[in-house]
Amino acid sequence: MFSCSWKSASVIALGAMLLAYFYNPSMWSRHDDEDQAKRLDQILTGLLRAEKGLEPPKAKVALGFGGCEDLVVNAKDLLEKVNLAAPDIPKHHNSVDTMDELAELLAYFFRHGAAAEYELLRYVSNDTLFDLLTKASTSLPETKSFLGGNAPVMARRMANEGAEVILASRFTKELKETLPEAVKVLGSDLEENDIHILLEYSTGTRWGKYTAPRANRLIVHSDNSNPYLDTLELLETEIKTFKPQALVVGGLQMMDNFPYKEGYRKHRLEKLRNLLTATPSKTSIHFELASFTDEKLLQEIIENVVYYSDSLGMNEQELPNLVSMLTYGNISLAADAYPRIAPVLDQMRLVYNLLRKTDTAGGKRQITRLHVHTLAYQAIMTTKGSAWKNTMHAAAKASLTAHRHVCGSKYIDQRKTRLIMDESFTTSKAQASKRILVQENRPVSCWEEDDFEICLAPGLVCTEVVQTAGGGDNISSAGLLVQVQ
Ligand SMILES: *[C@@H]1O[C@H](CO)[C@@H](O)[C@H](O)[C@H]1NC(C)=O
Ligand SMILES: *[C@@H]1O[C@H](CO)[C@@H](O)[C@H](O)[C@H]1NC(C)=O
Ligand SMILES: *[C@@H]1O[C@H](CO)[C@@H](O)[C@H](O)[C@H]1NC(C)=O
Repeated sequence: MFSCSWKSASVIALGAMLLAYFYNPSMWSRHDDEDQAKRLDQILTGLLRAEKGLEPPKAKVALGFGGCEDLVVNAKDLLEKVNLAAPDIPKHHNSVDTMDELAELLAYFFRHGAAAEYELLRYVSNDTLFDLLTKASTSLPETKSFLGGNAPVMARRMANEGAEVILASRFTKELKETLPEAVKVLGSDLEENDIHILLEYSTGTRWGKYTAPRANRLIVHSDNSNPYLDTLELLETEIKTFKPQALVVGGLQMMDNFPYKEGYRKHRLEKLRNLLTATPSKTSIHFELASFTDEKLLQEIIENVVYYSDSLGMNEQELPNLVSMLTYGNISLAADAYPRIAPVLDQMRLVYNLLRKTDTAGGKRQITRLHVHTLAYQAIMTTKGSAWKNTMHAAAKASLTAHRHVCGSKYIDQRKTRLIMDESFTTSKAQASKRILVQENRPVSCWEEDDFEICLAPGLVCTEVVQTAGGGDNISSAGLLVQVQ
């Protein structure tokens, strides 16, 4: 979901519901509190033990695409700054051309925001409008600016974990210098960054007659570089000598609703497919999904990228989208923000079984790994005997990374941590399916089915949110790296 910007985990959803739930003093008796605290302590200790049990990986990883400068701005302040009044009638727009459309779109999400828990990304085709919004954003004292983009976030995470990384992304020299040394950037420097404006608002924010039902963000961009994947050819050349263990593809949501010349988008995706087919089978290919509104684009991505990948990463909103696309050929917009475990595992099995059937002619690959990250848990499925190692550790690592990212601290403070996963779960909605009791001393539950293994780690929910942007990327890359050693 997300912007070039970032892929956020499902953390935005957290705010209101959790706070109400956990800070309602009548909710728990003291006895319950003590039990909860003890359970949390054991689970955290178990996850940390799983993380410690692994040597830091010395993997080589290639990553693409997309990079940008993120401007994080308070939506309310920006609206005031540009004198944008709330419109009478809210309206949905897939892209934004005028101030009025921006106002209508925002109002739409203020009104319908209860179901839309995810940040939204929209392309702004009007340069005058985008410049105006950028200038207004940078003039506000509270606005923060970061290096964003799926690939740069993943690159940083993996370099920090000890990997050697090549990154196919373009941005300015200044932004490039903020990356760790272990990251080699392939794209030539840009004069100006692609900018993403993240308009954030909190629960209860009022705007005219509208009140935001929950915290969320609308991201607007006017990218000139990212949608063209213009570092693709460089990556194709470099990968031959670099010989990475994994190639990670992300950032394709930048193509959503971008006004390409007729046929050009498909042309670029076919080029990407060529890169994937030219990649030696020893290099595992991971594709990180995102949220797409354009059905045709998602279809093209499935045809040119998904079928050529060994591994897929996604959140609980992207999973039903992929299922819907693979089975019916359409996108499902509604998603459950707190999905139960059984239906998610069933959807994972469905995707796995469909993609395992892929005919490998022409360089297609049969899936061997799926990672679904949600607020409450991390689920990773790997094919037995495949190249993926340490699935249990990966699930633990993903869970710890999610918490550290959102709380903004490597140290995990139990006072800022909650478990929302139940103490036991069924593995499928099918009748007579297995019920698994989460063992506090070995909190990652792993079991085998057919030709695959599933590991599920409880999520450590951070209750004092410091950052949400980039969560999904951090989580996915931390889990992936542990598996490519
Ligand atoms: C682009 O935005 C500017 C500033 O809001 C506006 O004056 C202009 O009419 C817009 N152009 C189009 C073609 O909508
Ligand atoms: C997608 O197509 C299926 C089968 O035609 C239909 O049942 C479903 O309602 C559609 N979903 C959406 C979101 O349009
Ligand atoms: C996640 O990525 C962002 C951006 O690179 C970084 O600032 C943050 O520290 C990372 N969080 C974790 C837990 O690695």
